[in-house]
Amino acid sequence: MASSGQGEGKGKLILFGEHAVVYGCRAIACGLPRGAVASISFSDEPYWEIADGTQIVIGDAAVQKAGRLLLEEFDLRPEELTMKVSLEVPPGAGLGSSAAMAVAMARAAAALQGLDDACEEKVHRAVAASEAVFHGNASGIDQAAAMGEGFLSFRRGERGLEIEALEARSGRWIVARVAPSASTAMMVAGVAARRAANPNGTDGIFQMIESIAIEGRQALKQGDQHRLGELMNANHEALVELGVSSEVLDMACERARQAGAYGAKLTGAGGGGCILALVDEEHEEKVKDALESLGDVFRFTLP
Ligand code: PMV
Repeated sequence: MASSGQGEGKGKLILFGEHAVVYGCRAIACGLPRGAVASISFSDEPYWEIADGTQIVIGDAAVQKAGRLLLEEFDLRPEELTMKVSLEVPPGAGLGSSAAMAVAMARAAAALQGLDDACEEKVHRAVAASEAVFHGNASGIDQAAAMGEGFLSFRRGERGLEIEALEARSGRWIVARVAPSASTAMMVAGVAARRAANPNGTDGIFQMIESIAIEGRQALKQGDQHRLGELMNANHEALVELGVSSEVLDMACERARQAGAYGAKLTGAGGGGCILALVDEEHEEKVKDALESLGDVFRFTLP
C-alpha cells in the first residue's frame, strides 16, 4: 500500500451524437489535452479540496455522494483521506469536468491501494458509479473520453462498449459557454419522457443523429472541414427537434456561423451550457469575438 496516490483524467467535447448515445447510437467525442489531476493520501485529518485554478469548490451533496461511491470501489472512505483535486477545465462548462475528476480520483485511489494497471476495470466501475450521480442514465461517453485523449467513436451496444480511437486531421475548435449549464440528469430524463410520449418520432430523431455521427466519423478521418461543419449544423437541428436546445444556444450557433465558422452546434446535454464551433485560421478571431459577448470562450487545436 502506498502512502499517497496520484491520478489524471481528461476533459471532453462531444462532437456528434449526444442524447442518442444513451439509447445505443454511435457518437463521436474527443478527450482534451487537460482535465483533472488528483492526489489522495491516508490522513487523521480528513479533507477534500477541489480547486479550479482560482477558487476552492466546496463539494455539494452530489459531489460528496459521487466521491463516496467511487471510493467504495477501492475499499476507501472519505473520513480516512486527504484528497486534493485540481481541475484544469472549468466545472459546469460541458467540458466533462465531472468525468475528468472521477477518473483522476479513481486512478489516485487505485495507486494508493497499490493496484496496478490491470485494475482499469475497477476504475471503470468506480467512475461509472460516480457519473451515474450526475448523469442519471449515463451512456459512458464522457467516461470513455476522460480515460484517454484524442478523438473516439463510441457506442454502448448490446454486447458492451465499442470504443474506437480515430485518426483525425488537426482542426480549430471553439467552445463558448453561453448560458449556465442545465442538469445533465434532468436533460436526459426530459428526453426519456419525450420518448415515452412519442417513441417512433423520438427514435426517428435518434436514427438521424446516428447517421450524422457515422458521416462525421468519416469526415473527421478525411479532414473534410466543410462537411464536418454541415454535419454539426444538421446535428444541432436534430437536437432542436429533440427539445434540448434553447434560444441562446440557437442564437450563439447562428452568430458563429455568420462570423465564418464551418458549422456550430450545442455540445453536451443542452438546455444551457456550451456551443461548439469549427473554424479555420482566417475566421477564428471573428468567431471568438462574436461569441465573447455571450460568455466564456475556450479554444482548442485538436488533436
Ligand atoms: O452534460 P455533458 O456535457 O456531460 O453531456 C452528456 C451527454 C449525454 O449524451 C446528454 C448524456 C450521456 O451520458 O451520454
